[in-house]
Parts: sequence; structure tokens; C-alpha cells
Amino acid sequence: HVRVGLLTGGGDVPGLNAAIRAVVKRGEGEHGHSIIGFRNGWRGLAEGDVMPLGRQQIRNVLPIGGTLLGTARYHPHSSDGGMDAVLATLEAERIEALIVVGGDGTLHAASKVAEAGIGIVAIPKTIDNDVWGTDRSIGFDTAVTIATEAVDRIHTTAESHNRVMIVEVMGRHAGWIAATSGIAGGAELVLAPEQPFDIDKIVKFLRHRHRAHASFSIIVVAEGAVPAEGTAMQYETQLGRFGEIIAGSISERLKVEIAERTGFDTRVTVLGHIQRGGTPTPTDRILGSRFGVAAIDAITRGETGVMTALRGDDIVLVPLAEIAGKVKQVPTELLDVAQALA
Ligand code: F6P
Repeated sequence: HVRVGLLTGGGDVPGLNAAIRAVVKRGEGEHGHSIIGFRNGWRGLAEGDVMPLGRQQIRNVLPIGGTLLGTARYHPHSSDGGMDAVLATLEAERIEALIVVGGDGTLHAASKVAEAGIGIVAIPKTIDNDVWGTDRSIGFDTAVTIATEAVDRIHTTAESHNRVMIVEVMGRHAGWIAATSGIAGGAELVLAPEQPFDIDKIVKFLRHRHRAHASFSIIVVAEGAVPAEGTAMQYETQLGRFGEIIAGSISERLKVEIAERTGFDTRVTVLGHIQRGGTPTPTDRILGSRFGVAAIDAITRGETGVMTALRGDDIVLVPLAEIAGKVKQVPTELLDVAQALA
């Protein structure tokens, strides 16, 4: 019998509730552990914001998006007194092991807390799919499904109006959603952070296509896509107080450049948080469930300091120390497929 703490950190994704449910069902129901939830990610753990987690709380949550525990972008290791507060809560609540579900930031925090001697098992989630060490993270499949449907819908209106349609998808450091929804939706161009783009080539390509083949084009661009060094873009990005883009997002800059240089009617659609909302796909429910079971089983065996991961068809455990600070980028092969089918 182990007292296991559980939190979800960073941006929410569809499929988190499947993981929570699996931890509770397997942990409490089969192993006889107590599962103690912390509200709103690491912040709740620092503040001792405890939430009871049992059969009652996980009833009917499988098809529901978001996280029943709540989440926050808060990292104890980079907040004043954060680490001490986390360790104090863990002691006060007599937590013997911790399961954290999160992306880059949460995993980094997990490795810091693990260094302080706490037994941690992490579960990867991010719609960006850029967590190193796992083929897939919870939330990615749902985001791709939503983005593909959006590209399909954009298609008909693009064709009717003879327009260039720019669809901006999420992905700050990696273009997984852009590459996959671009391939699945048949976009003419996919722009990802992995391959800085040349606006001159894009303009040339569009002119040629609209002269020779079709009078509309769809460009799927990841929010983190960047122009190649030495290529000229007229409009710069303006960053706000927190480093967020407040003007001149990459899609807006592309729109101005393309419209001014080609004369083509050009529009932007930013999918934004729609990609993170709503009901998870079966694939994400299954992945969340598998990761949840693997995490609580690892704790039961006394195996901690690891992250659950999907490798091919298998669930494996990867040492946390190997993951922190790395980004899993889209392989060139996938980007090539996207470009080859333009
Ligand atoms: O990391 C996941 C993610 O959805 C990114 O794709 C996106 O840039 C970011 O989170 C948005 O963060 P927030 O929800 O805090 O605005």
C-alpha cells in the first residue's frame, strides 16, 4: 500500500482524464494504493491544494477533454521557495511516490524533484508531440484530427474563392501537427520550425502553381516556423511582456508578404486552443489509459525516476535524466513527404 500523489501540469490536452482514471482504477482498485490528487499542477502541490481521488471523481470522465485536476504553467524549480514548498507538502501529506503528467516544463520540474530524493514517474502529454524519448504524447492525435478537419474545411472555401489560405497550427519548437495535418489534409505547403523557409521560394511556387495548375493554395504553418537566415521578410514579430507574440505572428507576416508580392487574395486562420479542446480521440484515450496503468505499475514495483513512453507498439520506461532539455523534432522524411505531395 503506497500513498501516491498525482498532478497534471502545463497546457491541458484531451486524454488527461483517461490517464487519471487509469491511475486511480488500477492503483486503488487493484493494488490497494491511496491516490491523492493535487489541483492545478505543481502550484497546487506547492500550496498543498489536495483533492481526493477515488471512483466517484473518475466516473464518466473518459470522453471529457481537459483535466479534472486542473493545471497551471508553474514550475517549482524556477519559482521562489517553490521546491521547498513542494517538499513540505509531500511530507505533510505523507506522499511516498508521485505521478506527474506533463510536457517539457513538467518533465524538467520532475527531474529536479526526483534529484531531491522523491520517487517520481512521469507521463508525457503535449499536443506538440515534441517530448523526447516517446513516439507519441497524450493529446497529439486529437490535435491532428482537429487540425486535419480544419484543413479539409478550409479547402472548399479556398477553392470557391480562389484564395491562398494560411492555416496556423500550434507547435512552438516542433512542427508535428503542421506536418501531419498538412499531409492528411493535402496542403500545398507545410512550414515547420525544423526547416526555416525562404519567402522568395514560396512566392515563386505560388505564382507558378496559380498560373499552371490551380487558383487556390493552402499553407499549413506551425506557430514556431521561422524564415531562413538572410531571407527578407517585411514585417517583424513584436513580443510582449511575457515573451508572447503580440503582433506579427508568423502567419500574419506570411499573409502580408504573399498578398503584396503576388496580388493573390490571402487569408489567415489561427486554430489556436481549439486544437486542445473537446473530446479525445480513441487513440488518445487508449494512450492515456496505457500510460496511467504503466505508471502506477512502475510505482508498485518500486521503479521510479522514469517516464512512461510509447516505442513502436510497446510501452516502455525511460530514465527521466535522459529526457529533460531535449526536443523531439519532426524527421526530415516526414517533412519531405509533406513537400513531395504539394
Ligand atoms: O505546449 C503546448 C501548447 O499548446 C503549444 O503548442 C502552444 O504554443 C502553447 O501550448 C500555448 O500555451 P497557452 O495555453 O499557455 O497559451
